[in-house]
Amino acid sequence: MAQALDKNSVVAVIGSGAMGSGIAQVAAVAGHTVRLYDTRPDAVAQAIAGIGKALARLVEKGRMGAAEADLARERVHPMRALEEAKDAALVVEAVVEDLDVKRDLFAELEDVVGPDCILTTNTSSISVTAIGATLKRPERLAGMHFFNPVPLMALVEVISGVATDKAVADTVHATAAAWGKSPVHAKSTPGFIVNRVARPYYAEALRLLLERAADPATIDAVLRDCGGFRMGPFELMDLIGHDVNYAVTQSVFHAYYGDPRFAPSVVQQELVNAGFLGRKTGRGFYRYGEGVPMPQAQAERAQPCPAQVALGGADPLTAALEARLREAGIAVDSKGAAAIFLTDGRSATQRACDDGRPDTILFDLLLDPANATRIALARADQCSDAAWNAAVGVFQKAGFTVSRLDDVPGMAVMRTVAMLANEALDAVNQGVCSAAAVDIAMQKGVNYPRGPLAWADAVGLRHVFTVLSNLGATYGEDRYRVSPLLRRKLAANPDGARIHAQ
Ligand code: NAI
Repeated sequence: MAQALDKNSVVAVIGSGAMGSGIAQVAAVAGHTVRLYDTRPDAVAQAIAGIGKALARLVEKGRMGAAEADLARERVHPMRALEEAKDAALVVEAVVEDLDVKRDLFAELEDVVGPDCILTTNTSSISVTAIGATLKRPERLAGMHFFNPVPLMALVEVISGVATDKAVADTVHATAAAWGKSPVHAKSTPGFIVNRVARPYYAEALRLLLERAADPATIDAVLRDCGGFRMGPFELMDLIGHDVNYAVTQSVFHAYYGDPRFAPSVVQQELVNAGFLGRKTGRGFYRYGEGVPMPQAQAERAQPCPAQVALGGADPLTAALEARLREAGIAVDSKGAAAIFLTDGRSATQRACDDGRPDTILFDLLLDPANATRIALARADQCSDAAWNAAVGVFQKAGFTVSRLDDVPGMAVMRTVAMLANEALDAVNQGVCSAAAVDIAMQKGVNYPRGPLAWADAVGLRHVFTVLSNLGATYGEDRYRVSPLLRRKLAANPDGARIHAQ
């Protein structure tokens, strides 16, 4: 195990904007003397004042003692010139996202700091290898990618460029852990872990909207209430800003040479064209402002519950759902002619045709079937109103709000989770990070309720494979190609394949 930097050592933070001030705060709270620098007049003074306020809020909330906060605040010192970084054991760069600016800065720093000083960059999208390429000693540069807001978000992606010394990356990792963060190692590749693996969360939602599965409010509610995500994809994109989110998607898409997995959406492009950038402009997918109500998610009207229902499928989710229905006093006939199934990546209409059963209804993936408040259903075009109303009545009696999605293949949550897991599997397969790292990254960096790979294990890798294969067959697009690692796991252990050991 590598040692963290001594907490009495000096940390220099270059760039005192949103990220730099947060990083300075975290390092100071961890005990380091911090030197803070910026080229913009007043930026450092503003950042130090902001850190003081943030620490005072922590004291007010009882999360930090007043004396501890005072000490942390006193450890942050303004730096008037880069030369003052000469005693630093660690430099964290958080200046503008521009390769030339970062290279020039590190070239200057290299002549100032001592031979053992570790250099790190907080870049979110530039190759760490490229930033290091013009250094005399690129082996001492690593990425130290924090998430916004730094004091609250636990994840730090520790990025190794081609030339980065492993010992340097290990020290940065151990230091981030000593600062109370959850660090993960990753290779310098476009999007690193989070900005790559999270792309399907936006991309599949935009695709669902393009294909008119439902309106944004309904899709958001389904991802929140059925999938357990803290925010739905449309409200999240409105918060991030469509200019920013669209630019990241385009950058990852181009960086992977136009891989259709990462293709941007014309739906989002039009929002950018319109200047509807989200919350910051008062309009994105939703409208914002005093007294403007948020649209409600679609919900089916109350229907009577039939005496009996038949669910199909031997998967764990269907079993859990069956238990909930029985608890609600509904007779579940597991041997009867089932018409209600967990989505397998085919549309209900296709499945009705394949099975010769017109009354086919599909339900979407649920994170927590025992406690979920909403369930999403889709009906085959051939399905009778009587069968549909009966299914709606059953789930309503078991305490669900029922939202109808139009009959899109893979529904919303299943399709999103399968694609998140598929991307995570490719990142692991390509040696970007470990399976454990990707799950930590998505939980700690973007608050996912469960790591995508642990989620794939829970759904069953065979089912995830079936969903992706059926999406691929339906769309005929390379976007839904199955990760080679998923195929390999299933070939090695057809019935019991898992990513994480149990
Ligand atoms: P920001 O615009 O709030 O702050 C950047 C600061 O750097 C400004 O105060 C600017 O005056 C200063 N600066 C510019 N050139 C400089 C130079 N040569 N020397 C010293 N200071 C200089 O930007 P923010 O959001 O803090 O981002 C900083 C870095 O962190 C970027 O590389 C960004 O991609 C990355 N990042 C940003 C995240 C975010 O959510 N904002 C998340 C993770 C990484």
